[in-house]
Amino acid sequence: MNELDSLVQQAQALFTQCGSAAELENAKAQFLGKSGRISELMKGLSQLDLEAKKTQGAVINAAKQSIEHLLNARRQALADAELNRQLQAEKLDVSLPSGLRTQGGLHPVSLSLERIELIFASMGFSVAQGPEIETDWFNFTALNTPQDHPARSMHDTFYVEGGHLLRTHTSPMQIRHAMAHVQQHQQSIAAGKGMPEIRVIAPGRTYRVDSDATHSPMFHQCEGLWIGENISFKDLKVVFTDFCKTFFENEDLVLRFRPSFFPFTEPSAEIDIQFPSGPLAGRWLEVAGSGQVHPNVVRNMGLDPEHYIGFAFGMGPDRLTMLRYGVNDLRLFFDGDIRFLSQFR
Ligand code: PHE
Repeated sequence: MNELDSLVQQAQALFTQCGSAAELENAKAQFLGKSGRISELMKGLSQLDLEAKKTQGAVINAAKQSIEHLLNARRQALADAELNRQLQAEKLDVSLPSGLRTQGGLHPVSLSLERIELIFASMGFSVAQGPEIETDWFNFTALNTPQDHPARSMHDTFYVEGGHLLRTHTSPMQIRHAMAHVQQHQQSIAAGKGMPEIRVIAPGRTYRVDSDATHSPMFHQCEGLWIGENISFKDLKVVFTDFCKTFFENEDLVLRFRPSFFPFTEPSAEIDIQFPSGPLAGRWLEVAGSGQVHPNVVRNMGLDPEHYIGFAFGMGPDRLTMLRYGVNDLRLFFDGDIRFLSQFR
């Protein structure tokens, strides 16, 4: 092997050993720099005669080109490797868990509402939703509560612009739902063929100017309404007793229907429950207002009170949730403290 071939081989070996662009540039100087091996060889040409200069010059040049070629190839290889390293380092694995993921869950009151809906659905009740901003007519007047009626002061009402108010109870849904139902079955009713029974619950948010451990300005209610041709207070007792026993998973729960007053029901009753055992045993706990729907209200629904009769109730899902889980301050439900809420997951 001649001197030049071996020079090219040396260059190749050295370039291959270079692990970085900087090292490679240093190595290059040894061969192609001003005082590098190729330049030295070129200088040596001056001692040769013309013919020899030509042939030897061509050979040196070929070697120089080979070395340049090897250098460029190595440069490219190093650049490729660097790019790959960067791509590897910056690779984003979207399937990797973030480590910050926490398991969410339903709010305890939502859990109760879900439960309430399931239990009443099993008794043939459908679920209706309605507006939280109400008119005076739906919230009071249609529910047999005239302008100057003392019952209006039982509710501390939030009034909003335009004469509207935040509903103080879910009872306006009795009227809204019944009116829609009557509308839907208008032809059949007009033809004397009657209508399917109204059997509905209406859960949702309600508002009163009130705040302490057992009252929040925003709270939940769930209305219930069953109207038919022969629905009585007896049915109310059966339905609500069944509901409470199922909700609290306690067959020995005792209920009391305590005479009360609501303008939209006659007779009216407050419903209290008592647990036979446990920390609340022996105490009567109020869970709902109820009664036989007043004839004036049946009329406002668009029905003839001589033909249609039924019962209504309004219960407090917040209260039921407190009793079910043993929570003693209603405000905890609405503070949004994750330490409290995560206990119900
Ligand atoms: N709306 C009543 C309240 O908020 C409860 C109720 C509903 C009473 C239906 C009778 C019938 O206190």
